[in-house]
Amino acid sequence: MKILAFAGSNSNASINKKLVTHTASFFDNHSVEILDLNDYEMPLFSVDKIAKTGMPEVALDFAKKIDESDLLLISLAENNGSYTTAFKNIYDWISVVPDRKAFGNKPIFILASSPGPRGGLTVLETAKNTFPHFGANVIETFSLPNFYANFNEENGIVNEAFITELESKINSVKNHFSELNKE
Ligand SMILES: Cc1cc2nc3c(=O)[nH]c(=O)nc-3n(C[C@H](O)[C@H](O)[C@H](O)COP(=O)(O)O)c2cc1C
Repeated sequence: MKILAFAGSNSNASINKKLVTHTASFFDNHSVEILDLNDYEMPLFSVDKIAKTGMPEVALDFAKKIDESDLLLISLAENNGSYTTAFKNIYDWISVVPDRKAFGNKPIFILASSPGPRGGLTVLETAKNTFPHFGANVIETFSLPNFYANFNEENGIVNEAFITELESKINSVKNHFSELNKE
């Protein structure tokens, strides 16, 4: 299984990149690629730019990465209750790549974390409810609240309840693929 993982953040110290990298480490017998949104910086989305200069090559590259994967792991950062500008900009561009949907009809495990007690639940709920309209098959969601109390660089998640929850959701994602392979 080819896994594409990224955080919905362009912060160099992104806590969501840490969470998604940690989550991806549970899929160690699969091919995992972790993208950084900074490597896919695109012009500010504009319908006028599409008309004038067409699609940026980098947007096509990002969409191709999605199309070539079997599973997406995305951990969303929350800014003002919504997606970060960096993520939304890429999202809008890839949503207008012709003949495909933004998430390429791929299975997705959506995560979110924040330093606060809601753990990015607002953006996570938005994504869970709306990504399916844009070609996402949402298999599981997971939110890690109070990131700095519940995660450290050395061990990953340190709270037992959240470890159990994440591992159970990872197993459910893996089972999804085992079932598909049986068909
Ligand atoms: C402009 C801005 C708005 C934010 N709004 C929220 C918010 O609505 N909810 C929240 O939980 N955290 C909010 N935060 C805090 C982010 O969750 C925090 O910066 C987190 O580290 C972002 O994730 P990242 O490190 O993966 O980029 C905000 C931060 C910034 C800079």
